[in-house]
Amino acid sequence: MKIFLDTASVAEIQQANEWIKLDGVTTNPTLILKEGKDYKKTLKEICSIVSGPVSAETVSLNAEGMVKEGREFAKIAKNIVVKVTMTPEGMKACRLLTKSGIRVNTTLVFSANQALLAAKAGSYLVSPFIGRLDDIGEKGTELIKEIRQIYDNYSFKSQILAASIRSPEHVKEVAMLGADIATMPFKVYEQLFNHKLTDAGIKKFLDDWGKLQKELKKRQN
Ligand code: G3P
Repeated sequence: MKIFLDTASVAEIQQANEWIKLDGVTTNPTLILKEGKDYKKTLKEICSIVSGPVSAETVSLNAEGMVKEGREFAKIAKNIVVKVTMTPEGMKACRLLTKSGIRVNTTLVFSANQALLAAKAGSYLVSPFIGRLDDIGEKGTELIKEIRQIYDNYSFKSQILAASIRSPEHVKEVAMLGADIATMPFKVYEQLFNHKLTDAGIKKFLDDWGKLQKELKKRQN
């Protein structure tokens, strides 16, 4: 499973990419608002760090506007993927952009049928939001399972990008269910490295190493 960072923070992307090479990045208006920076300039900077797909989200509500915005985003770098929302107009834009060679990420997907339509429209990436489904009392990871089955049944090429990930448990679950990609906040990415037994093990090794040095020094005297 590929790991993307869900952020518009260049500092977070740089840090994460130093630990393990990031497979891509997803951004949206909420994330760029948090940074308070120019969207296109930030995307350019991100694309200079990450060679995998970098998703840039359109804000128009009609296909014409989405296509126009998408074409502008696509000029920033080769690895830009244009995000459109899961609406009839979004799917029309998806088809037009895909036809002109621009890859599309269909976002705000909350049902298997929406994912089916997104695949039929030619989406390169399809983004089911699992955390937001959990928020309304549903089980977000069930949706990943359903979409995986549908895409496998019909050999759809669209990649399932599990989004709205809130915890390491989410990451593990979507990996087990066969999501192609998980996009996550930096905080969750960081947590993936942790285990209390790793910390305890490091402490024990260091303590024992210290004891050995003391012992050897004692013997020398
Ligand atoms: O990739 C979509 C993601 O940013 C949404 O996450 O936590 O706002 O539901 P969240």
